[in-house]
Amino acid sequence: MNKPQHVLMVLSGKGGVGKSTVAVNVAVALAHWLEVGILDADLHGPNVPKMLGIEGATMPLRDGKPVPVSTPHNLVVASLAFALPRADAPVIWRGPLKMKAIQQLLEDVAWPPLDLLVVDLPPGTGDEALSVAQLVGRGEAAVVVTTPQEVALLDASKAVNFARKVGVERIGLVENMAGLVCPHCGREIALYGVGGGEELAARMGVPFLGRLPLLPAVVQGGDRGRPAVLLPQARGPFLALAERVLSLLEGPEEGSSRPKAPHGGEKPKLTPS
Ligand SMILES: Nc1ncnc2c1ncn2[C@@H]1O[C@H](COP(=O)(O)OP(=O)(O)O)[C@@H](O)[C@H]1O
Ligand SMILES: [Mg+2]
Repeated sequence: MNKPQHVLMVLSGKGGVGKSTVAVNVAVALAHWLEVGILDADLHGPNVPKMLGIEGATMPLRDGKPVPVSTPHNLVVASLAFALPRADAPVIWRGPLKMKAIQQLLEDVAWPPLDLLVVDLPPGTGDEALSVAQLVGRGEAAVVVTTPQEVALLDASKAVNFARKVGVERIGLVENMAGLVCPHCGREIALYGVGGGEELAARMGVPFLGRLPLLPAVVQGGDRGRPAVLLPQARGPFLALAERVLSLLEGPEEGSSRPKAPHGGEKPKLTPS
């Protein structure tokens, strides 16, 4: 496999908090400047192809290896969804099979040289997350997505501790679904609360990467394969998030003791030019 310059795992404690949404939109935003791939590691619920409008595609074989699917957003994507006979076909696998599938998606796919591989994970700290972490986690980066709701925060703290345990070096926290602006009166409705993610980040000593409000454009965009970061109604918060993710990947400021490039050597080409 061509080893990507950086790997970014997108994790959460809970399902449905917006991991795939964050993974897809950050990847689309950064693909503007960088060579970016997405590995859809949610084997039981691979949503990335649908969110990018490439469901139904297949990964062609080159020299016996599956080639990731290219999108109009300058992204390449590998997902088990491309290998399923039908969109509603379930994947009924236990741990060892899942570990093998993750390894194949990482190592047996003909990935082109990438600046960044974004890995969209299923919720929690089970087989898929552990397999990715064991294969690439040490020294890499993770974004933990949470809503401001207490049950999500509790689970998010576990995801942060998981990432630390497996040696992920740069961990950031995103607060998603933080407030909804009423289309009728313009006032904010704090459906799941607001601010809990930021507080958790401070408590756990990880960088807070920002807050994404609940936006109807995210729902529609996700379902129609039009990532929200491309839609004027939703692009602002997602672009801001992508910039902070870039800073997370580039590492700490001058003078810090942490290395600038995780693999040593020259600073990676990660600054938009
Ligand atoms: N900021 C948001 N505003 C509105 N809907 C959102 C937002 N983030 C995610 N969603 C919606 O919530 C659902 C779950 O998001 P998804 O990214 O699939 O979560 P996960 O990957 O964590 O299970 C999807 O229908 C998605 O469109
Ligand atoms: Mg998902």
